[in-house]
Amino acid sequence: STVDARAQDLSGRHVIVSAGGTREPLDPVRFIGNRSSGKQGLAIARAAAARGARVTLVAAHLDAEVGAEASASLGGDVVRAETAEELAAEMRERALSADVVVMAAAVADYRPATVSEAKIKKDDSGDALTLVLERTPDILAGLAAGRSDGQVVVGFAAETAPDREALLELGRTKMARKGADLLALNVVGWTAGFGSDDNAVVVIDRSGTPVGEAAGTKEAVAHALLDAVVPLLP
Ligand code: CTP
Ligand code: CA
Repeated sequence: STVDARAQDLSGRHVIVSAGGTREPLDPVRFIGNRSSGKQGLAIARAAAARGARVTLVAAHLDAEVGAEASASLGGDVVRAETAEELAAEMRERALSADVVVMAAAVADYRPATVSEAKIKKDDSGDALTLVLERTPDILAGLAAGRSDGQVVVGFAAETAPDREALLELGRTKMARKGADLLALNVVGWTAGFGSDDNAVVVIDRSGTPVGEAAGTKEAVAHALLDAVVPLLP
């Protein structure tokens, strides 16, 4: 029943979703990255498209098969962004015309403070190499602060928490920093997250109240998240 009822509830809406993990260069051949597969972000993009939205996927690094699936299912609506800086710029620009903005990408919190033009050689650094890292911009907080009237801004938060109450507390603290409309709290440790086909989230609103919950496939999680988005749209 729900599939039919919600079939086109995002029709006429533009949804932008970031996915995958950023890569922050150290030199021409090396980067600092993370294990995000991009599966959850792609699942949200596909679910939004299935519900009638025009979708743009802003893709940082995706696992190979996720990238192939993204191209096959979304085609030209996939935009690449390598670094946190590039992702920030793409999201900022595309958010101008979006009704819904979802930050599902795993954004590096720190990047090398300087990028070497030449490949770093062992000889230069002796027995140990010290990297100086600097903070990246908080893309989600920036999007939330700059959101247009009626625009819904959604973030994710992967937390390790011993129980549901602790998870909600961590989520509320993060929500206060981010200023998003919804935060999907990833229950890391309850089920596998990175690379897995399954996920588990609790969705909280700005006041920290749980407004949705899902455990199962990333597609099921995606639809549960969009179920929480739709009532907030003007
Ligand atoms: N995020 C972002 N820009 C960053 C870091 C994170 O937009 N530089 C977004 C992520 O895409 C996610 C949300 O913020 O939607 C929460 O990411 P998370 O890593 O859980 O939060 P952080 O603020 O980075 O806090 P910490 O990693 O210290 O827990
Ligand atoms: Ca982080």
